[in-house]
Amino acid sequence: MNHLLSIKDLTQSQLLQLLALAKQIKANPQGYAQALAGKSVVMLFEKPSLRTRVSFDIGINKLGGHALYLDQQNGALGKREPVSDFASNISCWADAIVARTFAHSTIEQLAEHGTVPVINALSDMYHPCQGLADFLSLSEMFDDLSKVKLAYIGDGNNVTHSLMYGAALLGVQMTVVCPKGHFPDGQVVCEAQQIAAEHGGKLVLTSDINELGEQDAIYTDTWISMGDSTPMAEIEAKFKPYQVTEELMQGAGANYFMHCLPAYREVEATAAVVDGEGSLILRQAENRMHAQNAVLVTLLG
Ligand code: CP
Ligand code: NVA
Repeated sequence: MNHLLSIKDLTQSQLLQLLALAKQIKANPQGYAQALAGKSVVMLFEKPSLRTRVSFDIGINKLGGHALYLDQQNGALGKREPVSDFASNISCWADAIVARTFAHSTIEQLAEHGTVPVINALSDMYHPCQGLADFLSLSEMFDDLSKVKLAYIGDGNNVTHSLMYGAALLGVQMTVVCPKGHFPDGQVVCEAQQIAAEHGGKLVLTSDINELGEQDAIYTDTWISMGDSTPMAEIEAKFKPYQVTEELMQGAGANYFMHCLPAYREVEATAAVVDGEGSLILRQAENRMHAQNAVLVTLLG
């Protein structure tokens, strides 16, 4: 493993090892307090962030390393100088690059032209660190992930893509329910279905919310992702039947609610669900740091 650009690049055993290491680091942080001693990580962010920025910064600190945050107040990556120069220059000083970009191709260019590991902190296509934290969270609630039924409801986006690859590798039974015109990327769906077939998982897609069926956990995300300028009014009517409500959770028999955050209460999910007893949102947020630290230790330790 040289980079983490997408969960699709991991084998099942690499993914299982990352989850196991994340659990170890979470249980015994002192044992990893020097894992990144003397190492520096540059964090390039083209988009806003709370969880990703803070969990990487504090996580790197807890591993004994140093994090340097670069936002794009001086213009998007590639404007002042080519992304390739960014990558090669940062590689002169830093030991890894964490990048949140609009285009996934920017992250691929950083990996291609730099000489240090690159970690995708969210692109238009994938959010692998989120996916890792989410499966870590599910594995804390369920002993056997291959028996878990996970539904994703809403906009088929970067988070959906990473969840689909992760579920496929882990044999999780996944149902994706999206309004027509908002399905996940077709190629990602095909690849994830193929990976699922190899690992005993199942990936079902539908636009009919009545086909949701029995679920253990229901996941949703914002209806409009960063960088998407579609006015909310345009999609609200279309997405309303896909709002995650207490009735929907009960109808599916789902005990757990998941969301990568930020959550818009009474939009993609009701406040009662987001803040309800079965909500895993803070566990997911906490696990971002442990999952990312497992990635950092694996790539740099
Ligand atoms: N879930 C997530 O990536 O949150 P941020 O956008 O705040 O980093
Ligand atoms: N799909 C969302 C995730 C935010 C963490 C976005 O890309 O804005």
